[in-house]
Amino acid sequence: MLDALRRECLSCTKCGLCETRTKVVFGEGDPHARVMFVGEGPGESEDRQGRPFVGRAGQLLDKFLAAVELERDKVYITNMVKCRPPGNRDPRPEEMASCGAYLERQISLIGPEIIVCLGRVAAGALISPDFRVTKQHGQFFQKKDYEITGTFHPAALLRNPAQKPDAFEDFLALKARLEGGRRE
Ligand code: URA
Repeated sequence: MLDALRRECLSCTKCGLCETRTKVVFGEGDPHARVMFVGEGPGESEDRQGRPFVGRAGQLLDKFLAAVELERDKVYITNMVKCRPPGNRDPRPEEMASCGAYLERQISLIGPEIIVCLGRVAAGALISPDFRVTKQHGQFFQKKDYEITGTFHPAALLRNPAQKPDAFEDFLALKARLEGGRRE
């Protein structure tokens, strides 16, 4: 099912990003993952390789995952938009709206217990338009079928490493939640 959705997405022309993309970055990971990470949109390396979070930000994400002993292939990683916004600009609301149907179907097929929004763009779209990462990171919100939380985007942490300890706390809390204990 997820494969059929991937095939459909790979030939998508629903928004203008299809004109400038090299590869569609559908997402990857465990199709039954308990946790889904949602970033903003592919960057240059992702656009070239067709895989999410494989550039410098992705390497930092990998380090956080490893630090809390979450294996990358046991989680699912995707983005709000599946094609690279030119020059890495923020995805536009209409682009996220047309791509949103893919994300919704990914969420319902995978059925995660927890969704982690990586950064302001995903948290603004999936949690609340007023979400402030610096103030509300690490808080969990109950949605119908899953819990959702937001943390710093790894690219933001590369620009501002002083926030890394706060982000690490969020990953620890995530891990604890998955293990059943709650670390508020
Ligand atoms: N930044 C994102 O938001 N997503 C990626 O896949 C890579 C960098």
